[in-house]
Parts: sequence; C-alpha cells; structure tokens
Amino acid sequence: MKKSPLMWAIIMIVIGLIGLIFVLSANRASPDDAFSSNGQMIYYTGASRGGQIPRTVGGAGMMGPGMMGASACVDCHGEDGRGGQVDMMYQSTEIPDIRYSSLTSPHTEDETETPGWTDAEIARAIREGIEPDGNRIKSPMPRWNMTDAEISDVIDYLKELDTR
Ligand code: HEC
Repeated sequence: MKKSPLMWAIIMIVIGLIGLIFVLSANRASPDDAFSSNGQMIYYTGASRGGQIPRTVGGAGMMGPGMMGASACVDCHGEDGRGGQVDMMYQSTEIPDIRYSSLTSPHTEDETETPGWTDAEIARAIREGIEPDGNRIKSPMPRWNMTDAEISDVIDYLKELDTR
C-alpha cells in the first residue's frame, strides 16, 4: 500500500521530535553529572548538589590557602585522601590522611596515639574543627557547615577512597 504524503509528513515530524528530545536531554547534562556521587562532588568542589557549603577558615593562619575561599578537600588532602606534605602559599603544611580506614583505626594525632574515630567524631572534626581529644584542628583546615546528609555523603566518599 502506498503511503500518503500526509503520512510521510507525520513520520518525519515524529522522527524530528525524537531527535529534538535526544539533543535536549544531552544538553541537560550539568557539571554535577561529572561526579559519581554527591560526596565526590563535595570532595572536589567544596559545593554539594544542594549548593555551596558555607565555611569558615580555621585557626589563625591568615595566609592559609583557606583564605582564598575556593579550596576543596582535594586541594589539600589529595585525590587519594592520603594527604602528606603540601606546599602552599610559600609554606609547607603537613596534611593528614583522611581515608576512612585511616581515621577509624588507631593513629597518631599531634604525636599522641588515638583510638579510631567514630563517624560522629569525623563529623565534628569537619564541622567544628575539634578532634576527639578536644584539640582544635589547625589552619588551614576550614570548618564546613554541612547538613547531616552532606556529612554522610562525604564520609561515604572517604570510604570510597579506601578502595583506591
Ligand atoms: C585548605 C586546606 C584544607 C582543605 C580545603 C580541607 N582540609 Fe581537612 N585538614 C587540613 C589540615 C591542614 C588538617 C590538619 C590540621 C591539624 O593537624 O590540626 C586537616 C584535617 C582534617 C581532618 C582531621 C584529620 C586528622 O587526622 O586530624 C579531617 C577529617 C578533614 N581534614 C577533612 C576534610 C574534608 C572532608 C574536607 C573537604 C570538605 C577538608 N578536610 C578540606 C587541610 C584542609
């Protein structure tokens, strides 16, 4: 049976619409989609899918890179979370290993041996800059005003770093 011109027009419009939907959905990909999880996005950008995370700069180090406002966990703790000696703003800073297994197993803090931290203690360190033994975490580690969901997303990402 021969198709009428009208039928062909409808078929062409349908094909066109499918193409249009395809292009639009491809364009919708936002930068957020570059990250596999919200925790990873926070780790790499200092912002979550809910928006920029408010932070204050810890300690007295006026010249710490935290002053620049743009730094995210990755800038200091590294892509693998292992930290180490990092040179910033003309000074060398010792950055701790924050992989989940390292934080939650016995380790040395300021030359004293500490038992593994709990999730709540990790949350307090990130939010308030206070270690389980009451010591204040020094500059340039910022204090991050994260929601409970953001804290748990970040902790999940610290667990993921263990597998790297
Ligand atoms: C500008 C650099 C910088 C950025 C950005 C930064 N940190 Fe830190 N962080 C530090 C430094 C330096 C310390 C150790 C300070 C000290 O020893 O008192 C630290 C300590 C910590 C600790 C305590 C670990 C320990 O063993 O004492 C945790 C947990 C932590 N950071 C998590 C994070 C997370 C999560 C982010 C991102 C949301 C982040 N940090 C962003 C520099 C940074």
